Amino acid sequence: MKLTIERLGHLGDGIAAGPVFVPMTLPGEVVEGDVVDGKMPTPRILTPSTDRVKPICSHYKSCGGCSLMHASDDFVANWKQDVVKTALEGQGLEAEFRPIQTSPPGSRRRAGLAGKRTKNGAMIGFHTRGTGTIIEVPNCQLLDPALKKVIPGLTELTVAGASRKGEISFLVTQSLGGVDVVAKGGKPLDEAARVEFAQIANRHELARLTWDDNIVCEINAPIQMFGNARVNPPGGTFLQATSEGEKALVSAVLEIVSGSKRVLDLFSGCGTFSLPVAKIAEVHAVEGDAEMVAALDQGWRFATGLKHVTTEARDLFRRPLLPDEFKGFDAVVIDPPRAGAEAQIAEVAVSGVKAIAMVSCNPVSFARDAVVLKNAGYEIDWVQVVDQFRWSPHVEIVAKFSKRRA
Ligand SMILES: C[S@@+](CC[C@H](N)C(=O)[O-])C[C@H]1O[C@@H](n2cnc3c(N)ncnc32)[C@H](O)[C@@H]1O
Repeated sequence: MKLTIERLGHLGDGIAAGPVFVPMTLPGEVVEGDVVDGKMPTPRILTPSTDRVKPICSHYKSCGGCSLMHASDDFVANWKQDVVKTALEGQGLEAEFRPIQTSPPGSRRRAGLAGKRTKNGAMIGFHTRGTGTIIEVPNCQLLDPALKKVIPGLTELTVAGASRKGEISFLVTQSLGGVDVVAKGGKPLDEAARVEFAQIANRHELARLTWDDNIVCEINAPIQMFGNARVNPPGGTFLQATSEGEKALVSAVLEIVSGSKRVLDLFSGCGTFSLPVAKIAEVHAVEGDAEMVAALDQGWRFATGLKHVTTEARDLFRRPLLPDEFKGFDAVVIDPPRAGAEAQIAEVAVSGVKAIAMVSCNPVSFARDAVVLKNAGYEIDWVQVVDQFRWSPHVEIVAKFSKRRA
């Protein structure tokens, strides 16, 4: 069957009339192949798009880690901006967009890898596109080289710690102390395993190894710098995906809250925004995870030159801050998980706070929350898309909202 690709779906697949989903294709391309259950899994490209480029990774065809490497950087940048614009338009909103900021290749400092035992040892990699099998990715163009360096250590951990048929999922994060590794789904941790895993971690110079929820060893503190504060986050907790992406987001947030004396940071994590903002303003940071809150507080206590930072562990879905609690704050930073901040944004909207920095990784919940602010008298001054998930369909957004004068 011959089809013409009309647009890309939210996972980056080409979509032709039907709809038929066609992976690794671009709008305008004419493709041919068998269609099964609304998919053309192995298309032949009859008319390539002028935006098509040769993927720079030798694993791209089968690896499920990237899905847009066959498109030019300009195409991806425009497509990601358009995804956010379309989500806003869906809510009847328009905004000025700043130029997208894209992280360079080889900059992902945090990634999920899978490990599985084989006849001769173990393999570590990403899952292949559309199947559950693992593909090794020695030439991966996405990962920071520091993460690739620990693959031999993860291989040894898989040989020692995976059940014969099961997989281990590793979350690896680069830190000042080396790579912080969290392993899930392996054998239960008994005393002998703890000793063996700690020896492997030591040999491969991991900063810390966590096995399910147990810290096996902390050889070097896995410190993250937020502004000039040193934070030791709990294993596996949230961190922006690249340091370039984090810098772009922090600089946008600092611009939005500049001139404020007191700032509320909602869904603060371990202090990505709170601690840099504390250079210029007092901060109250609220986050659901008590261990992250404790890490933020500790980071602030040992830093110098920062204004006062207070913290609160609180479930902002169930117990959002109420309008009274915004009194005395000039600005709010809000960076919820993918689901957005429905309950909290309703209270922010009526708080009267002058400036809001909304950070989001989901255009749909971002637009839904944005319209609540707009209806309560806030203008969207600008939107900045940050692409720290290069070659994937994901986007990160930061936007400035200002209270309209009555
Ligand atoms: C997208 S992350 C942002 C974290 C931080 N702003 C950063 O940039 O590192 C969202 C944060 O919301 C927290 N979170 C998730 N559900 C929550 C809830 N119901 N109440 C409060 N915090 C929550 C997560 O623990 C996570 O730290």
